[in-house]
Amino acid sequence: MARETWATRTGFILAAVGSAVGLGNIWRFPFITGQYGGSSFLITYLAFVALIGFPAILVEFVIGRRTDRNPVGALRELGSGAWSYAGWLFVVTGFIILSYYSVVAGWFLRYTLIGITEGFTLTDPAEANALFGTVSTGLDTLLFHAVFMLLVIGIIAAGVRRGIELSVKVMVPVIVVLLLGLAAYGFTLDGASAAYSYYLSPDFGTIAANWTEILPAAAGQAFFTLSVGMGVMITYASYLGEDRNLAADAGIIAALDTLVAVLVGFVVFPILFSVGIEPGTGGPGAIFVSLTAAFAGIPGGRILGVVFFGMVGIAALSSAISILEMLVSYLIDELGVSRVPASVALGTAVFLLGVPVTIDLMFLNLYDLLADGILLVLGSLLLALFVGWVIPDVARDELRKGIADIGGLDDAWIWAVRIPIVIVVLVSLYLGIVDYVDFLTGDFADWLAAR
Ligand code: PFF
Repeated sequence: MARETWATRTGFILAAVGSAVGLGNIWRFPFITGQYGGSSFLITYLAFVALIGFPAILVEFVIGRRTDRNPVGALRELGSGAWSYAGWLFVVTGFIILSYYSVVAGWFLRYTLIGITEGFTLTDPAEANALFGTVSTGLDTLLFHAVFMLLVIGIIAAGVRRGIELSVKVMVPVIVVLLLGLAAYGFTLDGASAAYSYYLSPDFGTIAANWTEILPAAAGQAFFTLSVGMGVMITYASYLGEDRNLAADAGIIAALDTLVAVLVGFVVFPILFSVGIEPGTGGPGAIFVSLTAAFAGIPGGRILGVVFFGMVGIAALSSAISILEMLVSYLIDELGVSRVPASVALGTAVFLLGVPVTIDLMFLNLYDLLADGILLVLGSLLLALFVGWVIPDVARDELRKGIADIGGLDDAWIWAVRIPIVIVVLVSLYLGIVDYVDFLTGDFADWLAAR
């Protein structure tokens, strides 16, 4: 059977934007921006998206379009020796990331439902914290994880055009419209001006003083939010039927993803400032606790909360499908399994891997620090080394297709891939490993000892 392709260029771009825009923009971005001092983090992050994220998307696009294959098959086709196995790393990373991504997405579904049925009434942070405790672990959490994975499986089983392309054409515009509405509302709140100055006035002193933390955090965020480092963009580009201008497409995708992240700041910070909550008390639960407390205290908070949490759920869905698609494409291309059973089997396996995360949040750290802090970064490193040093001529040739006048873009790109990306990624990888070892020998060991 012929391999599926996107029906339209817009479909491809929206699918990639849908993959990029997700929990990373809405849940992770505000809390790490808060943690690293607001505007200082924002500028560093913006610089990284342009200098490192954009070339990294192109790396994956070029590999995918060249081979028309899933990431494992693509690297096997282009590389020899050990390189031909590198794609396996993506499969492992995809499994782990999707398993906890779905659990966290389930929290958002649950909060949306709480908003609809009961409203947000807890102004006391301790009570809001207790609510987060019941939402984030237990049998109900498992149920919402299952519901979310069923949605993901349903879309992927329906195929590239009828599943992914159709659903992102609805989801992505809905996300953008809802966000614009929320940001406009944020503008009317009392805390808006304090929030904007916190968010937007650059403070180079803070960057200089804390660069060892800010740089890797910003680099990690840039990769995660753009969905690079695990072959998802290879997979999506492999469904391109014709030679289009990949650089233009990558630019649009990076720009839209960034716009959404920046807009989220315009929503979240005014809401927090208006009820006097200081952003930056980090951690996965922070945004739930502080936002539910804020929604309880501001006019129209209930509707606002439902729209906000619901929008995040949609954004998470359009990202999660891209990860399952990457995994499913492997079974379809390499083992000849058909789409529906492949989607059900892999989706179920991912669901099972996520079960421990619904039992104890310690597993969220165990998975996230490994997958996001190490595996995703390692994936980016391998891809950059491969394209920059092993197949630069093939890569350049592929990039040129569909671009009438390349100027010096291909050279600039290859050099960005060869050196700056590799350096940034190596530093982040080192720090990620140090962090993980700390975690395994510290918090995790204590937790195990207490069992
Ligand atoms: N980019 C997604 C987000 O920001 O939430 C997360 C993600 C999706 C990461 C797909 C990696 C990936 F391959």
